[in-house]
Amino acid sequence: MCGIFGYVNYLVEKDRKFIIDTLINGLSRLEYRGYDSAGLAIDGDKKNEVYAYKEVGKVAKLKQLVQESDLDLTKVFDSHCGIAHTRWATHGPPSRINCHPHSAHNTPADIVAFRSDPNWEFAIVHNGIITNYKELKTLLEGKGFRFETETDTECIAKLAKYLYDQHPSLGFTDLAKAVINELEGAYGLLIKSVHYPHEVIAARKGSPLVIGVKTQRRMKVDFVDVEYSDENVPLPAETAAQNVALKKSAGGSFLSPNGLLGAADKSLLHRSQSRAFMTDDGMPMPTEFFLSSDPSAIVEHTKKVMYLEDDDIAHIHEGSLNIHRLKKADGSSNVRTIQTLELELQEIMKGKFDHFMQKEIFEQPESVVNTMRGRLDIANKAVTLGGLRSYISTIRRCRRIIFIACGTSYHSCMAVRGVFEELAEIPIAVELASDFLDRQAPVFRDDTCVFVSQSGETADSLMALRYCLERGALTVGVVNVVGSSISLLTHCGVHVNAGPEIGVASTKAYTSQFVAMVMFALSLSEDRASKQKRREEIMQGLSDISAQIKSILTQDQKIKKLCENTFKNQKSLLLLGRGSQYSTALEGALKIKEISYLHCEAVMSGELKHGVLALVDENLPIIMILTRDDLFKKSLNAYQQVIARGGKPIVICNPGDEEFETSRAEKIEIPKTVDVLQGILNVIPLQLIAYWLAVMEGLNVDFPRNLAKSVTVE
Ligand code: F6R
Repeated sequence: MCGIFGYVNYLVEKDRKFIIDTLINGLSRLEYRGYDSAGLAIDGDKKNEVYAYKEVGKVAKLKQLVQESDLDLTKVFDSHCGIAHTRWATHGPPSRINCHPHSAHNTPADIVAFRSDPNWEFAIVHNGIITNYKELKTLLEGKGFRFETETDTECIAKLAKYLYDQHPSLGFTDLAKAVINELEGAYGLLIKSVHYPHEVIAARKGSPLVIGVKTQRRMKVDFVDVEYSDENVPLPAETAAQNVALKKSAGGSFLSPNGLLGAADKSLLHRSQSRAFMTDDGMPMPTEFFLSSDPSAIVEHTKKVMYLEDDDIAHIHEGSLNIHRLKKADGSSNVRTIQTLELELQEIMKGKFDHFMQKEIFEQPESVVNTMRGRLDIANKAVTLGGLRSYISTIRRCRRIIFIACGTSYHSCMAVRGVFEELAEIPIAVELASDFLDRQAPVFRDDTCVFVSQSGETADSLMALRYCLERGALTVGVVNVVGSSISLLTHCGVHVNAGPEIGVASTKAYTSQFVAMVMFALSLSEDRASKQKRREEIMQGLSDISAQIKSILTQDQKIKKLCENTFKNQKSLLLLGRGSQYSTALEGALKIKEISYLHCEAVMSGELKHGVLALVDENLPIIMILTRDDLFKKSLNAYQQVIARGGKPIVICNPGDEEFETSRAEKIEIPKTVDVLQGILNVIPLQLIAYWLAVMEGLNVDFPRNLAKSVTVE
């Protein structure tokens, strides 16, 4: 949760207006990750000064605050470091004082712009959760620090200050290593300090961080070496002894034995000498760096990016970018490559649409094609999923496949369970990541665990992934965000390729996950003679799906009207489905709840008579998914039960289905496709209903209250 953005220039002259606009614009792109408060820290007028601004509300409010301040926007910097943050509150409610950046010193809660001086020795923006912050806080309070916020992040800034005061000769990297060595939990971090002007530290563990690099001449470096170290800075013996005492008094739970304060007898850290960006004559090259939780905030500046990996500590200083790690982890690589983003700027702009969600709903005819591009070969009846190639025969032999996900991604797993069972003939389990972990469900070495996630950063899914890795299972990622934690940690996987999804309510990622997983099931059954006819039918269905989605989207205005006529002033709504359409009902109900705040309950049609029917009368709005499949006759029973109680349901059915008289039901007609793909089409009108309900209520479609796009907390 939360978005972090940083901008550093070196030998490139930029005025303060440009720097602030770049930071604010970066935050706006990341706003989908959290939008209850925002803040930034920039260099002051004098060397060794930091100015910081914080505001509750969306990024636009922060922008206004900065604009209304008396900052000299014309001041030019040829080297500068700015960091910024947009928050989704976890520890402590949204308030100015809880807003990032956090500093090492205490500041009055009512000040909007904190200006300069030693108060901002260390400024930190953080995405994630520090799980041992209470222990660190106890230690630091014992050292005289006063904590003023309710956040976990504050302890990082104060720990940096404490360690710096003990060892003022340390370089920024060594200091950062010492701080990070003491942190437990998850973090994407940017640190700036008056003691290290124009430098920034970026570190990640469990929260994404990507660095964009823009040089004025063609960049010659396409990788950065990683430097490992398990050595620590020597300490005077009395400091080490003091630390041992401190640890004892705090129960020994912080300041780890090999950490800075415990390492009395180790030799000096060797510092990285590698300069990443140089001119032909070996001089530092004018360079700009953009640091972000997500490449969508970088693409308008540069397409050259480097994804940090867990435990990386990046140091940017005088145009150089060095990557350090505390220890060499098994299997981790010595280089971080600089990659070229395939993302285009227009993909992250709203274009002609009023909201990102609306744009993303209307992108589905293309996004599903992008998911299939280069993978589905109808002529040769083949599906090629490059990321699974080396593992597919192992998966075919596995004892069971467990799909693990949250929210919408969980619904997409539910939607494809049937097609996996049918084509792969392997037992399938579908698990909510949080519940799976709560139960500590048994996992075996011959299980295949599939993690489905749009963001690839969802904390519950990530923890479940680590749990399965520890138990030796084969892990597969089905992920939309390239370079995300789940895509990096799984053994193999399929990129969903739906393109950036910015609206908090997931739409195109759902349909593309669905398509990607159907292709996965198709590749598992490639070697089965008995399944070939069915496989061909499904492949043909996939190749027609884009045009069918397009035709459904032409009903947009009709659906808008239906919403106005049927749902105005309603308090509750039922959504009924059966078989694989129950997952469509669950997904539709989630969409309606999360953006329109209208209570909507998904009900398995067969269960209606077991209790929920008591709610049904002529007033309760009901949507029924009644497209024709093997269960159609059974689903009709529920329809009859509703009609008999005077209900007038909205029916999602196939074109021309005369089963439903217009006097009794309002119809939304959806083209017919192969039964296992029907859910891809049936969910589209439900997405549109959710969208129009929210618009009708004047709600903020892209930023629903209390939610954020990427849920990186447990
Ligand atoms: C709902 C929605 C959420 C996410 C869930 C998992 O519209 O977007 O329910 O599906 O938080 O997120 P990912 O897929 O990023 O793991």
